Amino acid sequence: MKFFIDTANLDDIRDLAATGLLDGVTTNPSLVAKTGRGFLEVVEEITRIVDGPVSAECVATDHETMLKEGEKLAAIAPNIAVKVPLTVDGLRTCKALSTQGVMVNVTLCFSPAQALLAAKAGAAFISPFVGRLDDIGQDGMALIAEICQIYANYDFDTEVLVASVRGPQHVITAAKLGADVATVPPNVLRQLFNHPLTDKGLAAFLADWDKTGQSIL
Ligand code: E4P
Repeated sequence: MKFFIDTANLDDIRDLAATGLLDGVTTNPSLVAKTGRGFLEVVEEITRIVDGPVSAECVATDHETMLKEGEKLAAIAPNIAVKVPLTVDGLRTCKALSTQGVMVNVTLCFSPAQALLAAKAGAAFISPFVGRLDDIGQDGMALIAEICQIYANYDFDTEVLVASVRGPQHVITAAKLGADVATVPPNVLRQLFNHPLTDKGLAAFLADWDKTGQSIL
């Protein structure tokens, strides 16, 4: 499973890229707004930190303007994945950009039918938002299971990118279902490393080691 982080914060991106476990980054207009910086310059900096796909979202809602925005974003770096919303115009744009060889991430997916359409439109990634479905009393992970099954049935190349992740349990369930990617907030990626028994065990090993008075180096 690939791990992307869902942020436009460069400090978090640098910090987590240094672990060697970061496969990409997703941003959205809300995350960019939080930085208070220029969108194009932030995205360009992210593409220099991370080799994997960096999602940058179009903000136009009509196909013609969205296509121009997508082409401009794609020109920033070869690892840009242009993000378009799951609308008729968004999927038209997805088809046009993917035909040009541009990676497209179709975002704001909330149903299996939408995911099927995105795959037919040539999306490199489909982003179902599990947390926002859970928030309204629906089952976000049931949607992931349905999409994984549909994509497997037809051997679609579109990768299932689990988005709107709220905690480690979402990541584990997504991995059990065989989702290709989870995009997680930086704090959730950090939480994946932790277990209290790891901390406790390490403290005990080091206390015993200190008693030996030895050093390895
Ligand atoms: C995905 O690409 C989105 O940026 C994201 O996961 C949205 O998550 P939220 O529901 O926490 O805003």
